[in-house]
Amino acid sequence: MSAVAAIPALEIDDLSVTFGHGAKAVTAVRRVSIDVPVGHTVGLVGESGSGKSTIAKAAVGIVTPSAGRILLGGVDLGTLGHGDQAVARRRLQLIPQDPYSSLSPRRTIGETMAEALDPVRASVGRHRDRIVHWLEAVKLDADSLVRYPHEFSGGQRQRVAIARALAVEPQVVIADEITSALDVSVQAEILALLVQLREELDLTMLFISHNLAVVRQVCDRTAVLYRGDLVESGDTVAMFADPQHDYTRTLLAAVPGSALMTLDQPSSRDR
Ligand SMILES: Nc1ncnc2c1ncn2[C@@H]1O[C@H](COP(=O)(O)OP(=O)(O)OP(=O)(O)O)[C@@H](O)[C@H]1O
Ligand SMILES: [Mg+2]
Repeated sequence: MSAVAAIPALEIDDLSVTFGHGAKAVTAVRRVSIDVPVGHTVGLVGESGSGKSTIAKAAVGIVTPSAGRILLGGVDLGTLGHGDQAVARRRLQLIPQDPYSSLSPRRTIGETMAEALDPVRASVGRHRDRIVHWLEAVKLDADSLVRYPHEFSGGQRQRVAIARALAVEPQVVIADEITSALDVSVQAEILALLVQLREELDLTMLFISHNLAVVRQVCDRTAVLYRGDLVESGDTVAMFADPQHDYTRTLLAAVPGSALMTLDQPSSRDR
């Protein structure tokens, strides 16, 4: 492998995030480092409140790290000026946890997609073909573009969120618990869609989940977070076979062997 190919797509390097000040300060993430190599899917697991979303938000710049660096293709985003940073950050796209708050209620799906494709000239007319292409890629009808988020189910909104993130043709996608707010009946469908698109588009992904059965199926590497600390990381198969940390063992013990979620082919639609 050449030296260039060995540079991870995304490096979260010694990241710490503290919310609040003084006596009320809460350190949500403590000196966490995670590499996401090109073409790989890395799982980030941990119980509720362990800091998974905080890491995702720090990576995309929604929350400010108190220490550490975020590197995209070897470039430290913190060293870039405002404009360059905005351009670079477009290549790192977050699919957020909650499809009900992540789409603007006052914008049509087309307007949301146009904004993602071209923040400067976000016209639906100008970008219609690409918008339709991406809506169809996530198996939504082309006429979805004139509709508003409230007209869609949670699963359909999450399809829009996936389309919006992928339309930017990002270098790295962070998927933060993208099915946790959805009905169980559509969770597998959305996951299967993401996995299908990952194969088709050769995506590089940080996949956040508290569902270890899903992580085992989707991720080739896994990082385990416990109360803001990274306690273990490595090859998923090896880790699941021989967990090194007590917390990882506890997490794995809670996964029934039969609980593997089957990733149905996303042929039927969640409507
Ligand atoms: N804006 C904020 N202000 C203060 N504390 C916050 C803020 N955001 C998160 N926290 C705290 O940081 C910790 C980590 O939260 P985070 O949302 O990252 O957890 P998570 O692992 O994503 O949990 P879940 O699985 O429930 O989504 C929690 O204690 C949370 O209360
Ligand atoms: Mg979260």
